[in-house]
Amino acid sequence: MTIQWFPGHMTRAKRQIEEKLKLIDVVFELLDARIPQSSRNPMVDELTRTKPRLVLLNKADLADPDKTAEWGRYFRSKGLAVHAIDANAGSGVKDITAKAKELLEDKIQRQINKGMKPRPVRALIIGIPNVGKSTLINRLAGRNIALTGDRPGVTKGQQWIRFGGDLELLDTPGILWPKFDDPIAGFRLAATGAIKEDIIHIDEVACFVLKVLVEQYGNVLADRYGLTDLPTALPDMQAAIDVLEAIGRRRGCIVGGGHVDYEKAATLLLRDLRSGKLGRMTLESPESFGEA
Ligand code: G4P
Repeated sequence: MTIQWFPGHMTRAKRQIEEKLKLIDVVFELLDARIPQSSRNPMVDELTRTKPRLVLLNKADLADPDKTAEWGRYFRSKGLAVHAIDANAGSGVKDITAKAKELLEDKIQRQINKGMKPRPVRALIIGIPNVGKSTLINRLAGRNIALTGDRPGVTKGQQWIRFGGDLELLDTPGILWPKFDDPIAGFRLAATGAIKEDIIHIDEVACFVLKVLVEQYGNVLADRYGLTDLPTALPDMQAAIDVLEAIGRRRGCIVGGGHVDYEKAATLLLRDLRSGKLGRMTLESPESFGEA
């Protein structure tokens, strides 16, 4: 889904989330486990400060497990509860209720002390487009209910989805805008498919990805594309283009005159990355933000 975020959309999205927050006990902040920092909305801390929050690292099936554990430690060090899931296949999803209840333990205990039967925990999923909000809602609901292409500003009647008897989820997620001002975050978002290549050119995205792969997952390119004599770092754009060219040649992405079709090679690389064919990988680590 592509959303053009203009200031008016952001204001409306923010207002819609503020309205939804009044109805719930806990926020599920959905992030992409491959880019946990770049897939965070810059305003999320401020916006959700009145509610306990559980960070869900989604698409963990595509992410590097060691890096996911590292990110888990990072978020916990910031005082946030965190849990890795794969909303597509469902792994980790059934533990979400218990994690949410842990966050609300005091509140639930107060209800019990007053002789009340604790009511189901009410939750709201928030996140940037494409992070897997609809997939998770459908997974929790056990059926297809969330509208794919749900857009900020499009209102529909809100309903509660019951999950396992003690969790209720708003069926319309809070949609937040991604980071725009940080060019590296932009490349990471484009690499994972969270923002479209009409915003950042695909060749440049591929070169960015190659830099990460060569420097952190070098053998992957050798295994998948049979590249030999790879450098251990790509210091500049030309070095990345050389690797892209080698991939293009290996994969027959050739145009007239025997030249490599860079766009085709870039598309192939990004498709392989996004589908997990290159293996499980994470494109950023907490150290890249200088506060591991
Ligand atoms: P959104 O509501 O936040 O915008 O995201 P949505 O659920 O539509 O998910 C965006 C894409 O991410 C979908 O793929 C979805 O299948 C995929 N996805 C969601 N969660 C996971 C996960 O945990 N693991 C993996 N591997 N993929 C996940 P798509 O390419 O749009 O197409 P399709 O798979 O629906 O055909």
